[in-house]
Amino acid sequence: MSVIKVAGGAPLHGELYVPGAKNAALPIMAASLLSKGPVRLAGCPRLSDVKNMITLMRALGCVIRWDDDVLEIDPRQAQFYELPEQLSKTLRSSIFLLGPMVARFKRAVATFPGGCDIGLRPIDLHVSALRALGVKIEEEHGVINCRGANLKGAHIYLDYPSVGATENAMMAALAAKGDTVIHNTAREPEIADLQLFLQKLGYTVRGAGSSAVHITGSKCAQTCEHRIIADRIVAGTYLCGAAMTGGDVTMRGIAPEQMGSVIGKLRECGCTVRQGDAYVRVRGPKRPGEIKRVETMPYPGFPTDMQAQFFALCSVAQGVSMIVENVFENRYRHAAELARMGGVSAVNGRIAVIRGVDRLMGASVTAWDLRGGAALVLAGLRAEGETTVCGVRHIDRGYACIEDDLKSLGAQICRAEG
Ligand code: UD1
Repeated sequence: MSVIKVAGGAPLHGELYVPGAKNAALPIMAASLLSKGPVRLAGCPRLSDVKNMITLMRALGCVIRWDDDVLEIDPRQAQFYELPEQLSKTLRSSIFLLGPMVARFKRAVATFPGGCDIGLRPIDLHVSALRALGVKIEEEHGVINCRGANLKGAHIYLDYPSVGATENAMMAALAAKGDTVIHNTAREPEIADLQLFLQKLGYTVRGAGSSAVHITGSKCAQTCEHRIIADRIVAGTYLCGAAMTGGDVTMRGIAPEQMGSVIGKLRECGCTVRQGDAYVRVRGPKRPGEIKRVETMPYPGFPTDMQAQFFALCSVAQGVSMIVENVFENRYRHAAELARMGGVSAVNGRIAVIRGVDRLMGASVTAWDLRGGAALVLAGLRAEGETTVCGVRHIDRGYACIEDDLKSLGAQICRAEG
């Protein structure tokens, strides 16, 4: 099993191009099932989650080629509507295929999805949105069986602005007769990217980025090429590394306005931030200052996917910081691992209070989830001595090669067989 070894001490310096966003690539791949012919997706990040999604879509009969960062998906031969059990269990994003499969085959069978162990992650919002469109859904022994022969446009009210439920409902509604309005939608930029992709396929979808999305059901008339938007979480992770190490990092190819809440917090802890047309540059102070309070929220609030990295940052900041995790109920497993490195924090339910220490100590720690793993790597950059991070497979789900990226910014880091 791979581990990542980091020798702390070197500040991060330099610039990097931000890869395409995992959270845009996965639903757009699923939506490719609704194209008339082959689609070409550029900027597809080389992640294990993308690889697993390819395996799932091949099982449905899609023909897929993946060269460098370009993915070509030809859905014309797709005919199977049952997702392989093992994979759909491990990949939460398999849920995104429900909407497109129902739209395309009028049937979908899947296993209750897995993913990071960061909370219960139910799928009730997906299910009720699909039911509102007329999909008949039975859930038995962890298997979800959907039938959607006569979908009708509807007003769908989401109880919570779930990213995945918004996207799934958008895709299923394309096959419904008439107009659908999804209310209280998530407003993440990745949803706007999905909308753009669907528009390029000739579908009528509007409103993504606001809290209501309008869809008019229709048949797909065309194919398209699309470039996946840049990953604001990968960008934020490395900028956080600059903030923690007194470094100076520029992330290119990212829209700064998509990172407003993160940039605000980086400024609050003493970073100098410059931003312009498709770049963000962060110069970290010698030691970051405390962050009085950061609360995770749906976009444009502070992203839950940046919480762990900021937890690591607060662990080396001056003073006492507070984090409130509002989105997932079990997203603090990195706290105990950071404690092994000398981090001082108290976690009670959704609230974490962190007293920053001047120096963390290198230790052997375990990544239990994707962003928690990235946070441990960042902590290693600021620790005395060597840190070994196990559980690297979680990190590989969202960072194509975190050690190469950080090495190119001057970190002493490598992957080894542990
Ligand atoms: C997406 C992102 C993930 C990010 C999350 C929140 C992808 C591939 N993943 O995940 O990186 O952390 O948004 O920004 O885009 N919920 C329910 N019932 C449901 C669906 C969700 O209760 O049917 C709850 C979840 O348990 C969670 C909250 O709603 O507490 C937000 O989840 P959601 O926005 O759906 O996240 P995902 O789409 O799974």
